[in-house]
Amino acid sequence: MQTAQTLDVLRKQVAKLRADGSTIGLVPTMGALHEGHLTLVRRAREVCDHVVASIFVNPTQFGPNEDLDAYPRQLLEDAEMLEAEGCALLWAPDAAVMYPQGFVTNISVSGVSEWLCGASRPGHFDGVATVVCKLFNQVLPDSALFGEKDFQQLAVIRAMARDLDLVQPHVHSIIGVPTVREADGLAMSSRNRYLSERDRAAAATLPRAMKHAIGQIENGQSAGSVLAAFEDGLLKAGFSSIDYASLVDSASLAPITTLDGPSARLVVAARIGGTRLIDNMAVG
Ligand code: PAF
Repeated sequence: MQTAQTLDVLRKQVAKLRADGSTIGLVPTMGALHEGHLTLVRRAREVCDHVVASIFVNPTQFGPNEDLDAYPRQLLEDAEMLEAEGCALLWAPDAAVMYPQGFVTNISVSGVSEWLCGASRPGHFDGVATVVCKLFNQVLPDSALFGEKDFQQLAVIRAMARDLDLVQPHVHSIIGVPTVREADGLAMSSRNRYLSERDRAAAATLPRAMKHAIGQIENGQSAGSVLAAFEDGLLKAGFSSIDYASLVDSASLAPITTLDGPSARLVVAARIGGTRLIDNMAVG
């Protein structure tokens, strides 16, 4: 596996990979890789000839009181994991390469980015949309793969690609990959490592409580009362606060109260011991 840290090297390496007409799948990450990321790389290898992974801890998607400085960085270990999965090229720019002096552009996706995580983390999705658009233009992949764990992020990126008429990748080649979970059901996340042993055990109540709530909603109970009890249960289990627990339309992420529409999703963000966990599951 080659590693590129400048745009010049990246473009040369990408051109080499493409020379025989091969296709490229991009897996954008912030590093601290786990099985969820490696699943994206494996899926990318199934749909494309070569995989390019990026590792960039993007400062513009972190709020002023968030964990930018503490975010785990382990480039060498990550590179070994990517190489073992058959990744062809690692794109690992630093902040000066991504945001050179004088950088002034911001991509802001209205609507879908404004509620849920957008409400709890102002500016977060502008940072994500802008850096992902840059990553797309830097690598020009045929496909790009993202975990469905960040369900709203995926919706924001698809809206951005559709609205800006991106061709590489085209919006239809932005692939969402189902969430990979630990044995006890907790969605894999680079932030799980922040959890103390006690909080880690309590965190596993989240996916269990979500499945229980989904069963109740599917059996016809009102989403409002089910979700109120769900939130109470999480607080009793040791979560300190709940940013949101909502039943939403899977496409627009707008809140819904019944399951009459095409497809629904339960989306949750909750805090435990200073760590913010998000999860989502299909309903109906
Ligand atoms: O999901 C992530 O790891 C990041 O938000 C992404 C898509 C790599 C953009 O920085």
